[in-house]
Amino acid sequence: MCGIVGYLGKENALEKIITGLETLEYRGYDSAGVAYVLNNQIKVIKREGRIQNLKEAIPWQDHPTIGIGHTRWATHGEPNEQNAHPHQYGKFTIVHNGIIENYQELKKILEENGYQMKSDTDTEVACALLDFLYQEEQNVLKTLEKARKLLKGSYAFGILCADELETLYAIRNSSPLIIATKGNEKFLASDVPAILEYTNEYYLLDDYDIAVLKKDSLTFYHDLKEITKEKQIFEGSVESSKKEGFPHFMLKEIYEQPKVVKDTIAFYFDGTKDSLYQKLPALDKYETIHIVACGSAYHTGLVARTLIEEIVGLPVTVEIASEYRYKKVFYDEKTLVIVISQSGETADTLASLRKANQDGIDTLAIVNVVGSSIAREAKKVLYIKAGCEIAVATTKAYSAQLALLSLLTLKLALIHHTIEEEEFLEIRNAIAALPEQIESLLDNPQYKKIAQQIYQREDIFYLGRKLDYSISMEGALKLKEISYINSVAYPAGELKHGTISLVEEGTPVIGIVTDSEMRDKTLSNLKETAARGSYIILICNEEEKEGNECLLIPKTHPILQSMLTIVPLQLLAYEIAKARGCDIDKPRNLAKSVTVE
Ligand code: G6P
Repeated sequence: MCGIVGYLGKENALEKIITGLETLEYRGYDSAGVAYVLNNQIKVIKREGRIQNLKEAIPWQDHPTIGIGHTRWATHGEPNEQNAHPHQYGKFTIVHNGIIENYQELKKILEENGYQMKSDTDTEVACALLDFLYQEEQNVLKTLEKARKLLKGSYAFGILCADELETLYAIRNSSPLIIATKGNEKFLASDVPAILEYTNEYYLLDDYDIAVLKKDSLTFYHDLKEITKEKQIFEGSVESSKKEGFPHFMLKEIYEQPKVVKDTIAFYFDGTKDSLYQKLPALDKYETIHIVACGSAYHTGLVARTLIEEIVGLPVTVEIASEYRYKKVFYDEKTLVIVISQSGETADTLASLRKANQDGIDTLAIVNVVGSSIAREAKKVLYIKAGCEIAVATTKAYSAQLALLSLLTLKLALIHHTIEEEEFLEIRNAIAALPEQIESLLDNPQYKKIAQQIYQREDIFYLGRKLDYSISMEGALKLKEISYINSVAYPAGELKHGTISLVEEGTPVIGIVTDSEMRDKTLSNLKETAARGSYIILICNEEEKEGNECLLIPKTHPILQSMLTIVPLQLLAYEIAKARGCDIDKPRNLAKSVTVE
């Protein structure tokens, strides 16, 4: 979703801002813009489309030392130049991530006071509001404090004021914003990767904190009082945000899966039961578990539900966060609410977490981005060790989430005495073998060959039962995200209740058959589609006769199987999208981190 970068220092602000915005391109956007101070004036340049269009419009002979930039993912108004950020009204120029929910109300008040908006955006209204309040306050800090009491919704703002051309202001509520420093240079950004090229030291703004960046000072305020903030150090490497020879971030991240699965498991489990007891939270008192998440993170919850219900015998509810946050929920002190989020910033997941927290329910977050809002607000947090994930279509974070959920299942099974010593040892050995098994699935010419067979189709179906169905959900999502093929996953028995009417000669059906108990059932459902002309691609542990194509994957304990099954599905999606000439790392309309509801 939208990206923010601001710079104040001695160097060329335009270069720093554009480099930062390019690093955030992966978040998804449809227009971009910059504002900078030149000859005591604020100059704004914006363009529809890619950053490249903006770069072509920038007069590079300008050498400003202060400025703000933005990539916009349209919410209010179409993605055109007028609606792009920065927005300017009177004395103020701002960039904004988030949504101002009461902007219509505020707009009306402002219009009654003579303000006229030029764009369709909520951001221009916020900008005009600052100008309006400033006329009375004549002080930016007080203006921001007053504005934040009037603005409803989520926002991270980077702000320039015409009366203070050597100062950058920033304020946030429910949308991430960091301030980074390198000597006397200062940056503001919506995400850490934007500043990693320059520094790994940064401060996290909390809701309603205001940062004031000047040449020789950096000051933080909360409720108009100066506060000190703890400096954070980013521990990962800059390299994690580079392609390192891979044609796409998605492919690079798929290839990183043996390592991230290994690292995530090794962080919590050294092969002993003690490590699970010490490193993972106490889970003894819970009688039910709610898993809440969006997108692929939701799909890992589906896998976890099957594992926990089957192996441990505890009931698990898995909910899409945008539903959970508004629905009647039945939970009590014996319920654990687990929220799963790669970014730690997904608006609906955060809102669901807040709901459970407010109701006094125990919450546990499984998150990748350290210090993100969800990580900070959950009562307990467990980090996956996926490193920086850039491709919009998640792969390695998904696998790392599965790895952590497998360990939680294992710990629950130990607590509830549902696995014997022998099975624990079997799982331990299987964990040791897992990274190599994932590795063995990466290079296989079959993916490309199958992609060539089916890439021109407009409908592809995925079938599986139980665990295999949960994985097929993720396989179908990967394909539709990056190839724009209408791909849908069904529990294998369900297709014939309607959707089989869409199967015609050559329709690809990807059947996942790794659950030996479900094997015969799924195979007979696949045969039903074959009778209508489908082209069957099987993903299975042993050779089967039914498929037109068969992708063999290694067998492991069911608690780990999903981390293997997903790999061919990711690589098939990748090869199909490539064959269709799609922009794999930046799929249309999608955003990496969805910070609005
Ligand atoms: C977006 C991303 C998905 C992701 C989902 C949830 O839709 O494109 O890849 O699964 O958000 O994101 P989260 O950061 O909460 O895991």
